[in-house]
Amino acid sequence: MDEFHIRGGIRLEGEVQVGGAKNAALPILIAALLVEDGESVIRNVPDLRDIHTCLKVLGHLGVESEFDREQSTIRLDASGLTGVEAPYELMQQMRASFLVMGPLLARMGKARISLPGGCAIGPRPVDQHRKAFKAMGASFEDEGGYMAGTADPLHGATIFFDRPSHTGTENVIMGAVLAEGTTTIVNAACDPEVTDLAQMLRAAGAIIEGEGSTNITIEGVESLRPFDHAVMADRLEAATFLIAGAITGGQVTVRGVRAEDLRIVLAKLEEMGVEITTTEESITASLDGRPKPTLITTYPFPGFPTDLQAAIMALTSVADGTSVIRETVFEDRFLHVAELARLGAEIRTVGDEATIIGVENLSGASVMASDIRAGAGLVLACLAAEGDAVITRVYHIDRGYEHIEDRLSSLGARIERKV
Ligand code: EPU
Repeated sequence: MDEFHIRGGIRLEGEVQVGGAKNAALPILIAALLVEDGESVIRNVPDLRDIHTCLKVLGHLGVESEFDREQSTIRLDASGLTGVEAPYELMQQMRASFLVMGPLLARMGKARISLPGGCAIGPRPVDQHRKAFKAMGASFEDEGGYMAGTADPLHGATIFFDRPSHTGTENVIMGAVLAEGTTTIVNAACDPEVTDLAQMLRAAGAIIEGEGSTNITIEGVESLRPFDHAVMADRLEAATFLIAGAITGGQVTVRGVRAEDLRIVLAKLEEMGVEITTTEESITASLDGRPKPTLITTYPFPGFPTDLQAAIMALTSVADGTSVIRETVFEDRFLHVAELARLGAEIRTVGDEATIIGVENLSGASVMASDIRAGAGLVLACLAAEGDAVITRVYHIDRGYEHIEDRLSSLGARIERKV
């Protein structure tokens, strides 16, 4: 299993081009299932493990795909769609595979999908997805770890989410675009990736209004046409590089990302003493000395993203004072705390709250990544730590960050992948 070997304590400086967003690319690839005839083109797709898993799921359903990795472009043709099943082996690798439920119910009238089960950040149920499709006329049976749904056909409904679900909103949108009648999602997720999906679907002929807000309305249409769409830039990757600049007392510029998608993150970084400069094209973060402590509560967009909780915790662990971070999105997203402690961080957790007493220096040690974002947080902490560190299980990081070691190296980091 690959490891990262990092010599920390080196100031990072330079520019990075931000890649396409994994969490926008996945639903958009899956949305190609909705197009009965012709080839769709998806550009700016990151070359990540999760993308390859997604192509396997689509291939299993009978979709033809071709990934030009040089051009970051995928061509997809779902005219030969025959399958309705997402098997356990693939679901186990990536729970976002559950997003095929909406398109399959809409186009095939049935779907048999392995239940995702728990994961390293908590139980992650799919009850809101299920409730929504039931309101749209689907019925479900659970058998042998699979959720088998039928819809004859899927029809429009008003869906009230108990809480905003990112992929839940995407799943319902994809089901609703080909359903009979009008669907309204109340308390929808407002994330920019949901907006990107809606824009792509609209270009394919869907009728959608209100994306980016908590109320989204979708009017079902007979069919969608092939589309050509460039995936939005990855706001999480961009923020990770900006924090890498700050935590090493350096200066990093990220290009290609919209500052608007990171407003609260940039505001928090500024509150911590990080100097932020934005242009239409780029965001620059720099920090002289130690960061100031802060209070953070993770919350659905436009709140502070749970996906950056570990990264910001790494930064607070070297702050000049005590910070408090509350995780309200996922039940169990503090697995990185014990690993940060191995690097010398002083963190106590009680329930959903972590109190971080900033220390002057972290020091290198062997640590283990438990999920994509926890892994990224550890990379950041190791970049700041004095001496040598090793991160194991970097396959988690590879699910969400394309060649992170090469890009950090280009900023001056001493990081090496060892196989
Ligand atoms: N929830 C339910 N029932 C549901 C759905 C969600 O109780 O039916 C709960 C979850 O357990 C969680 C909260 O609602 O406590 C929010 O979950 P959400 O459904 O929004 O998360 P998701 O759609 O499964 C996506 C991202 C995650 C990201 C979250 C939150 C993708 C493919 N995944 O997950 O990304 O953390 O939204 O923003 O878009 C990652 O990229 O590393 C990652 C985990």
